[in-house]
Amino acid sequence: MLRSKIGGIGYYVPEQIATNDDLTKLMDTSDEWIQERTGIKERRYGKKHDETTATMGTAAARIAIERAGITPNEIDFIIFATLSPDYYFPGSGVLLQRELGITKTEIGALDIRNQCSGFIYGLSIADQFVRTGMYKNVLLVGSEMHSMGLDYSTPGRNVTVIFGDGAGAVVVQPTENEEEGILTTKLHSDGTYAEKLAFISPGSHGGYHAKKLGLGTEEDFGFDKEIEFGEIFTTQKMMDERQLYPQMEGQFVFKLAVTKFPEVINEALDDVGLKTSDIDMLIPHQANLRISQFVQRRLGLEDHQVHNNIMKYGNTTAASIPIALCEAIDEGKVKKGDLVCLAAFGSGFTWGSALLRW
Ligand code: UT7
Repeated sequence: MLRSKIGGIGYYVPEQIATNDDLTKLMDTSDEWIQERTGIKERRYGKKHDETTATMGTAAARIAIERAGITPNEIDFIIFATLSPDYYFPGSGVLLQRELGITKTEIGALDIRNQCSGFIYGLSIADQFVRTGMYKNVLLVGSEMHSMGLDYSTPGRNVTVIFGDGAGAVVVQPTENEEEGILTTKLHSDGTYAEKLAFISPGSHGGYHAKKLGLGTEEDFGFDKEIEFGEIFTTQKMMDERQLYPQMEGQFVFKLAVTKFPEVINEALDDVGLKTSDIDMLIPHQANLRISQFVQRRLGLEDHQVHNNIMKYGNTTAASIPIALCEAIDEGKVKKGDLVCLAAFGSGFTWGSALLRW
């Protein structure tokens, strides 16, 4: 059985910086509140009309491809993880294929919708394809352009201050070296609390889930009950009532996150017979610096064993792990043979972990 490894990695963040003070001009918030609750000082926003989720993913992918020692046309399969795609459909995977100038059509492009866990899910998928020998060069991209779809008014402040734009990419390749590569991946989901962190409209739901869960009537969710055909994807009422934005019950998500991160990390370690003390570098999904610090304490890791960069980039969802991993490698914090642990928790809820020998 072959093993897979990350053969090349790259990231891209847009130039434009949005500081906490910039946000105080748009909503009732403060630098002090944001830093104290999340650790975030600033985030990046893409350049409107010039940058998209796919173009940022392409910039990160070019670096990963070059570092993997291949050319774009040698990619066999694309996996694109995002919750902020360029289009509702088609997915950003084919747009990235076009941007990269990949002309061959003997490849597949898969878009995955696993929000903060998107990169871990994608890595697990890439790992399976490479291990079975089906593909040799799988390009996995996590990219987000959150800034285009946030509520910059005070009601949206709990969500908006957290998110930033950026992209990370890896090329997953086979290796026969038993001293390196992906050791295991663990994936989980629980749809019970799907609406606790969600961007529900526009969508085909028509108020169904809200009614079933007792969260409200169709009208509460921006629908006109009298309309029988069509016109319920986006309604004027949704726009008027500012419902076309992501929403989160922050404390509920926080409490679950700090439980699930250590749980899924320990599950991966158990699977391969290792202990928390064996971890050289933990790259947690950058959801909130307080969550990362809590997980670090629970696992008994030192500061130099965890890489956080949420202070500079905010939460970049599917992009946060590859950006942080690439940064840690570029800063010399990850050495050959190190045990690297990746872990994420987010909307769905979905969560997961991966262990790699670098
Ligand atoms: O990446 C996917 C997974 N996501 C996460 O893991 C996020 C988990 N949750 C969190 O990180 C935190 O819950 C937040 C940072 C989102 C919010 O922090 P919190 O301490 O849980 O605040 P809260 O939502 O409970 O709100 C507390 C107060 C409220 O005011 P009142 O009702 O007490 O008067 C909010 O209206 O803070 C207010 N508030 C703000 N004030 C200033 C919420 N957002 C802001 C803001 N600026 N940006």
